[in-house]
Amino acid sequence: MKHMFISDAHAHVEKEITVKGWLSNKRSSGKIAFLELRDGSGFIQAVVVKSAVSEETWGAVDALTQESSLAITGTVSAHPKKEDVFELQVVSIDIIHIAEEYPISNKEHGPDFLMNNRHLWLRSKKQWAILRIRDVVETAINEYLHIEHFIRTDSPIFTPNSCENTTDLFAVPYFDLGEAFLSQSGQLYIEAAISSVGRCYDFGPVFRAEKSVTKRHLTEFWMMDAEAAFVEHDENIGLQEGLVKHIVKSCLEKCTKEFEILERDTTPLKAVVEKSFTRYTYKEAIVKLQELGSDIKDGEDLGNDDEGMLTKDSDVPVFIEKWPSAIKPFYMKIDPDDSAIALCDDLIGIEGAGEIIGGSQREDDFDALLERIKEDGLDEKEYEWYTDLRKYGAVPHSGFGIGVERMVRWMSGVAHIRECIPFPRTVNRIKP
Ligand code: 4AD
Ligand code: MG
Repeated sequence: MKHMFISDAHAHVEKEITVKGWLSNKRSSGKIAFLELRDGSGFIQAVVVKSAVSEETWGAVDALTQESSLAITGTVSAHPKKEDVFELQVVSIDIIHIAEEYPISNKEHGPDFLMNNRHLWLRSKKQWAILRIRDVVETAINEYLHIEHFIRTDSPIFTPNSCENTTDLFAVPYFDLGEAFLSQSGQLYIEAAISSVGRCYDFGPVFRAEKSVTKRHLTEFWMMDAEAAFVEHDENIGLQEGLVKHIVKSCLEKCTKEFEILERDTTPLKAVVEKSFTRYTYKEAIVKLQELGSDIKDGEDLGNDDEGMLTKDSDVPVFIEKWPSAIKPFYMKIDPDDSAIALCDDLIGIEGAGEIIGGSQREDDFDALLERIKEDGLDEKEYEWYTDLRKYGAVPHSGFGIGVERMVRWMSGVAHIRECIPFPRTVNRIKP
């Protein structure tokens, strides 16, 4: 019998096909049974009429427990009243595996229990929806970058030095070579690759040994770093806005079902696609925050609450650009008009999304870069390969990094980032 994915049911109406999947629910009156089946691509109700099937198939209905795997052969029918809903009129059932009593039921479970059972929890409808949104976000990122002439080059995970902040590094013993560090961002490496391919990006896991226990921090998360030759600060911001719009648009187009399952109101996302994002300089942001009642002082980093305050009444994400260089990493280019300022930006999402992107123009002058490295107390020898790039055809260039789980959290509208990656790693969790 021809195999069908549930998501393709519309193309198989009145045809006999086989669906392979898992049983998520079962109701039976003794004469007729309703099996809720999922195959990863979607959900479908299968109707078994006792008088229309063999004894063996009716026996299978009895035997099936929640999460058992099975193959159902039947005829696809369109739901008489609901558009885009299909059913399966069952001809026969083959049991693949009978599941033991499943620990996750429809009743409320605490987050700890669910996280301990993450390997099973992934099957739940909401988690399924989030996994699919994540896929759409990642695909959209890849699409947009290729439209803008970036190619994927990727960066190493074992690195000899820090990219962001020496206090957040995970160290691992590395044979006779001493210590290696897990990458915090592949940025420095793709800066080298732009002189080969012009515009490129990496996409992979990065690591921060940051003891932040919040709804937005993971110790292992996925980042896409993009880097482009001949792009300066303003154009860099334009690329970031274009990327976020492309991701949001893709989610609106492809995730209708998923948003419904998550009960996510998509009205705010529509404005994001249509309107221009707001731009504040760091100085403007500080003034605004102080007016709004924040006790933040000039020169300080923004906290979660500050980010929330700044975007509370905004229907579009907000760029905060031109930060004091003193609180930003060594690689950022100093503003030629103000030596205390770095040509950089953070993008803050709406609806409590927080910081989604960090980016900057890069210091392309050898002497200035070396000075920043020394000022930051970094070992210039370790960065020799990086400063070398400023000796051979240096060009103005810029880039940025987007946190995939931050974006997925915003799109899905879930409260906690731990649901936005299949197997989250946080300060308190590395299992399962
Ligand atoms: O702002 P960050 O630290 O920037 C960089 O690493 C640059 N080297 C990127 C670049 O220019 N190529 O991190 C970028 C993004 C943040 O805006 C945020 O979305 C996400 O990564 N992020 C985290 N996501 C989850 N958990 C954490 N602990 C995160 N830290 C940063
Ligand atoms: Mg940042």
